[in-house]
Amino acid sequence: LLDRIPHPPRRVPLIGDVLGSNVRTPLQDSMRIAAELGPIFRRKAFGKEIVFVAGAELAAELADESRFAKHVGLGVANLRPVAGDGLFTAYNHEPNWQLAHDILAPGFSRDAMAGYHPLMLDVAGQLTAAWDASEAAGRTVDVPGDMTKLTLETIARTGFGHDFGSFERDFDKEGAHPFVTAMVGALSFAQRRNVVPPLLSPLLRGAERRNAADRAYLNRTVDEVIAARRADGGGPGDLLDRMLEVAHPETGEHLAPENIRRQVITFLVAGHETTSGALSFALHYLAQNPAVLAKAQEEVDRVWGETAVPAYEQVAKLRYLRRVLDESLRLWPTAPAFAREAVADTTLGGTHPMRRGAWALVLVTMLHRDPAAWGEDPESFDPERFAPQAVRGRPAHVFKPFGTGARACIGRQFALHEATLVLGLLLRRYDLHAEPDYRLRIAERLTLMPRDLRLRLTRR
Ligand code: HEM
Repeated sequence: LLDRIPHPPRRVPLIGDVLGSNVRTPLQDSMRIAAELGPIFRRKAFGKEIVFVAGAELAAELADESRFAKHVGLGVANLRPVAGDGLFTAYNHEPNWQLAHDILAPGFSRDAMAGYHPLMLDVAGQLTAAWDASEAAGRTVDVPGDMTKLTLETIARTGFGHDFGSFERDFDKEGAHPFVTAMVGALSFAQRRNVVPPLLSPLLRGAERRNAADRAYLNRTVDEVIAARRADGGGPGDLLDRMLEVAHPETGEHLAPENIRRQVITFLVAGHETTSGALSFALHYLAQNPAVLAKAQEEVDRVWGETAVPAYEQVAKLRYLRRVLDESLRLWPTAPAFAREAVADTTLGGTHPMRRGAWALVLVTMLHRDPAAWGEDPESFDPERFAPQAVRGRPAHVFKPFGTGARACIGRQFALHEATLVLGLLLRRYDLHAEPDYRLRIAERLTLMPRDLRLRLTRR
């Protein structure tokens, strides 16, 4: 059935197509192979054959919800020991998915978002206080590190009324927050399990012990957050209150305690890691493109004017800055792939038969570079690609940083509001300067981050 799908030429018995690939960069390896093999290809690693879809036309077919659905596989399935049947890792058939989705979706309504806005501003204020100090001392700032502090505090405070104290930590002396260390450990381990063959898995034994410790730490943290809320007898109606108190509008069912634990971990992780990367890439491109930076700063100055503190409604008015963010997510969608499975026997692209349950991985980074959708120079950074007339002229289903269909990202509006707000506040306050010899390199740990990105700031 796979015969018509090309694969890399050098196949080695047992280990498959792993020559020339690196366990640290599976995504970037797949991108190189896609550039050679085209819109659909397969890679075999240690007996597992994975079909990749990199082209816009086939990806649009996979977005058809009447024929395909989310597939929980690879990295997502490897996170099951951590996130269980939480929203992100639940199988489509698990009743807890619909139950939690219906209970939590109102937590992302416009009203709910407006309620989170003041807390988002508080956290952003902690970031600018830290950046002011760096600027005054002439120090560069660690962009991914600081964006991770910001986004972790934001989801923890808005969703769960919890303060990790990330900004009070002295990174050089104490390292990252142990929650972040445990989470990054769990993500990296899930990625490694994708690329290490069963035969070599004894090599992972040390890593597995660390992983068990990481999981125990995550569970302990979450149990403390939940216990604190129960002791308070309720909070401000945030995500945690919804999880603990709200019944399903039709069935009256509640989330079970073990499922709540899984949801809290899911939201603390899914709610910050990808947004942190998105902010970091956007800051990188702003620093590298002075004309774009100037235009975005002009917009913030004009739209926000003398307002000391931007109101909720003023954030979505930063249309150009939103395009900058979209264009950054086009080039480096920080959740760089998602899997789709056939809901019934079908034929993909008119030539590739797929049995019910067969699945393919959409390489979003390549979908976002398909010249059929994005023109002949897809590598160039150009926010005008997201101007309304450009968007209107483009086929559907070619921009998927938040996934697709019923299992698309529930936190999309949350992430976009948070990221646009923070970028607006930063651009109003600082000019950004790239380090002269910085070349973008991508760190992979299931999600993407610009590696070692530091910027120099000057107050405007
Ligand atoms: C699902 C991307 C921010 C919570 C997803 C999926 C993608 C994605 C691609 C679908 C994965 C799949 O099909 O397997 C992103 C990106 C973000 C972001 C790029 C930031 C720029 C957030 C935030 C939250 C969140 C802020 C929570 C506050 C979730 C959850 C799911 C999800 C719970 C699972 C939804 C379900 O299956 O019902 N996200 N996300 N994400 N995301 Fe996000």
